[in-house]
Amino acid sequence: MTGATRGIGREVVAQLVAAGHEVLLGARDRAAGDRAAAAIGAEVVELDVTDDASVARAAQMVRRRGGLDVLVNNAGVPGHACDATEIDAATIRAVFETNVFGVVRTMHAFAGLLRASAQPVVVNVSSGLGSIAAAVDPDAHVDTVPVWVPALHYGASKAALNMLTVQYARACPWMRINAVDPGFTATDFNDHRGTRSVADAARVVVDLATIGFDGPTATFTGDHGTVPW
Ligand SMILES: NC(=O)c1ccc[n+]([C@@H]2O[C@H](COP(=O)([O-])OP(=O)(O)OC[C@H]3O[C@@H](n4cnc5c(N)ncnc54)[C@H](OP(=O)(O)O)[C@@H]3O)[C@@H](O)[C@H]2O)c1
Repeated sequence: MTGATRGIGREVVAQLVAAGHEVLLGARDRAAGDRAAAAIGAEVVELDVTDDASVARAAQMVRRRGGLDVLVNNAGVPGHACDATEIDAATIRAVFETNVFGVVRTMHAFAGLLRASAQPVVVNVSSGLGSIAAAVDPDAHVDTVPVWVPALHYGASKAALNMLTVQYARACPWMRINAVDPGFTATDFNDHRGTRSVADAARVVVDLATIGFDGPTATFTGDHGTVPW
């Protein structure tokens, strides 16, 4: 589970541990990870998704512990809200580094371990703001957009993550891989302006993390079912 020191990620770990699963709580900051894990009863794996060496070390640690069945790519950054024309390449690259290339790093590093699992499952924590169908629908995101709009760089990064999800699913039929939209959730991510609780948001992620091999792949799911791509 990447990015699990706080917010939705920490709550996903808590719900999975409560359901009896053995969970590694991913943290780029060891002390923050230890604090979060102590309250939940999980083990920490140090993992910064922007750092190849860190992700490779995390994969080695997981291999030494015996492997993994489920990878949840949750780590994400919003980027700063600003006018679209103020966004330069460096700004968008920084958001993609975590939200898109971070997932490519973990998929690259953990693919061998996932392949060794009897029922490998990946969940990519996306966003409704990554839905191109919603972006062109004037009635969509009416609750979110007026209060929080880093939509150009953030939305583009999650749209890219959605396409990665589908392409990994096509290329790797031996695993289940799905994107989820946890909904507009009150966390540090949006200065707690979100309207959903982390408990509700985490349930969407947990549902897709605990599917069996007869479960779906290449889907985009939110609280109300399928989210349009
Ligand atoms: N909140 C919402 O309304 C909402 C809606 C839709 C989708 N999402 C998605 O849900 C996911 C979690 O969001 P959240 O609201 O829980 O955000 P959050 O409270 O800001 O937590 C973000 C988590 O990601 C970690 N992280 C950031 N950069 C990282 C990196 N380079 N390597 C490893 N971990 C990193 C953070 O670790 P540190 O503590 O070290 O910073 C933190 O644990 C994100 O992917 C976000 O895009 C959120």
